Amino acid sequence: MSEQNTLIVVSNRGPVTYDKVDGRRVERRGGGGLVTALRGVREQHHVIWIASATTDEDRVVAGEAGGGEVVLVAHEAEAYDRYYNVVANPMLWFIQHSLWDQASRPELGLAFHDAWREGYARVNRSFADAVVAALDEHPDATVFFHDYHLYLAPKFVRAARPDALLAHFVHIPWPVDWSVLPEPMRRAVHDGLLANDVVAFHTRRWAQNFERSCEDTVGGTHGTRVTHHPLSVDVAEFERLQASNAVRAAEATLPRPEKLIVRVDRTDPSKNIVRGFHAFAVLLEEHPEWRGRVTMLALLDPSRQSIPEYVEYVADIERAVREVNDRFGPVISVQVADDFPRSVAAYKQYDVLLVNAVSDGLNLVAKEGPLVNQRGGVLVLSENAGAYEELAEWAIGVNPFDVWGQAQALHEALVMEAGERARRADGLRAQVRDRDLSQWIAGLLSDLPRAAA
Ligand code: F6P
Repeated sequence: MSEQNTLIVVSNRGPVTYDKVDGRRVERRGGGGLVTALRGVREQHHVIWIASATTDEDRVVAGEAGGGEVVLVAHEAEAYDRYYNVVANPMLWFIQHSLWDQASRPELGLAFHDAWREGYARVNRSFADAVVAALDEHPDATVFFHDYHLYLAPKFVRAARPDALLAHFVHIPWPVDWSVLPEPMRRAVHDGLLANDVVAFHTRRWAQNFERSCEDTVGGTHGTRVTHHPLSVDVAEFERLQASNAVRAAEATLPRPEKLIVRVDRTDPSKNIVRGFHAFAVLLEEHPEWRGRVTMLALLDPSRQSIPEYVEYVADIERAVREVNDRFGPVISVQVADDFPRSVAAYKQYDVLLVNAVSDGLNLVAKEGPLVNQRGGVLVLSENAGAYEELAEWAIGVNPFDVWGQAQALHEALVMEAGERARRADGLRAQVRDRDLSQWIAGLLSDLPRAAA
C-alpha cells in the first residue's frame, strides 16, 4: 500500500472498544453512524485511527506498546469528563442544534471556563500530540478529523506540521449564530477549523452557514476549502442485515395494528421526541377515526446519560407517553434500549416513519428506513434535518415546532393512496441506493488530492 493512501482518521469514538469479561479481553464494535461510515474507508485505504479510550480496558490497551492501526488516547479522567460532558455535550451540541432556551440557559460560570481550558483544550491537545506522532511515522498521510469534539486540534497540528494535509468533517448542523459562546472561544472554534485545508459538511445549508459565521467571526475562510457531501448507508450491509435471523426474530415481536407509525432515535433533545408524541395526540383528537387503528412505536436508544439535560429529557419522554396513553389508551409503545435488530425490523414494517428533528446534521434513519421498508411506508421528515435537502421530493416535509402541522402530515401519510405511496417509497429507495456510502467516500477523497491517489 502506498504511503499516499494512508489516512489518519481522528474521532472521539473509535472503531472498537474493549471490555474485560471474566478476566478476558473482549472487543466490541464502536457505535454510531460515523464508525459504520468510516469502515468503508478502511476497506480502500491504509487507515490509522486515533480515538479516545472510553473504557477501563481501553486505557489498558492504550498503555500497551503501540504501532497498531487503532491508537487509543487515554485522557486524564477529569479532563475527559469536562471535555465530553460539559463542553462538547451539551454546550457545542446545544448551540449547533439550536437547543438552548436562551431566556434562562445556559449560564456560563467559572466551571465552564475551566472546562474549556482544562478539559476541551487539553483533550484536543492530546489528540493533536497523537496525530503529530502518527505523522512522524507516516509523513505523507492525510489527517481526517471528525466532528465537534475536535475543533481545536487542527490548529495545534498545523503549528507543529505546517505542511500536513488536514481535513475535517463536521457531522452536525452549523448555525450562523454562535453568540452564546464567549468571543475568545468562538474565535478559537473558527480558527481551529480553518487550520484545515478542507472543512466538509453533509449539506449545502451547513456549509453556507459556516462561510457566514467565518465571515462574522474571523473575517472569512482564509483559503480553507468548504465543501458538502451527504453521508449515506452501506446498502449491501443493510440488505444482509434485514434478512438476518436477529431481525426476523425481532419482527415477530412487533405490534401489528392496522397502521404503524415508527420513530427510531437516540434519546437526544435534538430529535424532538416529545413534540412527536404531542403531534400524535393531536392526530387522535382531530381524527378520532384513527383511535384503536394506529399505534406509534418509538424505539429509543439511551444516550449521554452522564449529562443532566439528557437525563431530564428521558423523564420528559416518559411523562409525555404516560399522558398520551392515559388519554387515548395504550397507543404509544416505547422501548428505551440499544436494540438495532428491532429498529431494522420496525423499519421493514412501518406505514409512516416520523423523523421530526429540531435540527440534525443529516439523519441516517431517514435513509435506513426507506431502504428496507416493505409496506410502501411514507417518510414524514423535518425540514431541519440535513437529509431533507436530498429527500424532500419523496417525503412529507414538516416544521419541527409545528405540532399541529405534524399531526396533519401524519394524517396525510396515513390516508395516502397506494400508487402515490409506492411512487414516493420507490423514489426514496432509488436515491439511497444511488448515493450510497461509496459515493460519500469518493466525494470526500476527491477534495483531498494526495489521498485520492
Ligand atoms: O455526529 C454525531 C455523533 O457523533 C454520531 O457519530 C453518533 O451517532 C452520535 O453523535 C453519538 O454520540 P456519542 O458519541 O456522544 O454517543
